[in-house]
Amino acid sequence: MALRRLTVAFAICAAGTAWAQDNNSLSVEGEPLITEVAAPDHVENLDTLYSGWRFRSPETQYLQTDDFENPAMVFVDQARDLWEKVEGTENMACASCHADVAEFEGLRPTLPRVENGELVAMEDLVNECRTERMGAEPWKWSKGNMTAMTALIGLQSRGMPMSVAIDGEAAPFWEQGKDLYYTRVGQLDMSCSNCHENNYGVMIRADHLSQGQINGFPTYRLKNAKLNSIHGRFKGCMKNIRATPFAEGGPEFKALELYLASRGQGLAVETPSVRN
Ligand code: HEC
Ligand code: HEC
Repeated sequence: MALRRLTVAFAICAAGTAWAQDNNSLSVEGEPLITEVAAPDHVENLDTLYSGWRFRSPETQYLQTDDFENPAMVFVDQARDLWEKVEGTENMACASCHADVAEFEGLRPTLPRVENGELVAMEDLVNECRTERMGAEPWKWSKGNMTAMTALIGLQSRGMPMSVAIDGEAAPFWEQGKDLYYTRVGQLDMSCSNCHENNYGVMIRADHLSQGQINGFPTYRLKNAKLNSIHGRFKGCMKNIRATPFAEGGPEFKALELYLASRGQGLAVETPSVRN
């Protein structure tokens, strides 16, 4: 693919920091996490999967190794307060029904999943409890309370390998996500694969392209100093290639999320990760 087009795309991004990483093994709070794994059969065109952590500078990498240094943890603490907060017509908090957030250990790596014929992401599960069980307003997909809560829930599975179901009822959603991944869109006429499959490892305009994995989400970005949802990131990448983004929480992004989760099969959940 034309490298010139990539360069144009990067001129549009207000991208990053200098690349000097030499650290290939991630331990968080002393626990080693898998950032590199052989690609499963359903991932075409890649032999090895790498976490986005591997492509960051040593300074950024370091922030993720220690929860005291990890700037995302401020938001995780906010979620612990939200967990106890009584809201809605039923006068309930998450804690009224779920004894401990630790009960969600193992959930992150299996999402999104199919329920009653629909693809369901973690944000849907949280909002279902809010609207159906608490009588409270749903949270916006990528707003701070939602990303804080999905970070707290995701953290319970940190270190566990990504493993979504892609067969059976999930198969058509996975196919849809795969199609979207390889479809060229936008004024720059590019697909996700043009950058994250064909050109990962490439340095352009001082940013280092990764495989676009989602094992670290929601992720704290130094660029905007907050937690960023998976769909928020997809939206940003689509805008960078001057495409009209799909809706956050919509069927296209959920299908893409399922496909990307399957492209990270075996990588450790890093939630909440730190990126540029
Ligand atoms: C009135 C009781 C009630 C309240 C309040 C409640 N939930 Fe739930 N929640 C449930 C039930 C029942 C289920 C479905 C059964 C299950 O998986 O535990 C569920 C399921 C979930 C799941 C999916 C679990 C899985 O393994 O599939 C998540 C995540 C979740 N709740 C998060 C929350 C959060 C976050 C809050 C607060 C914003 C909350 N819930 C408030 C009762 C509640
Ligand atoms: C013009 C190149 C380009 C295209 C096309 C592109 N991205 Fe990205 N993407 C980037 C850059 C640059 C970053 C930030 C550096 C990195 O992690 O690769 C990024 C980051 C990401 C990340 C975050 C990775 C992490 O570890 O935090 C995800 C997920 C992602 N992209 C998904 C997508 C998806 C899905 C598409 C297609 C809709 C897409 N990207 C299209 C350039 C691109």
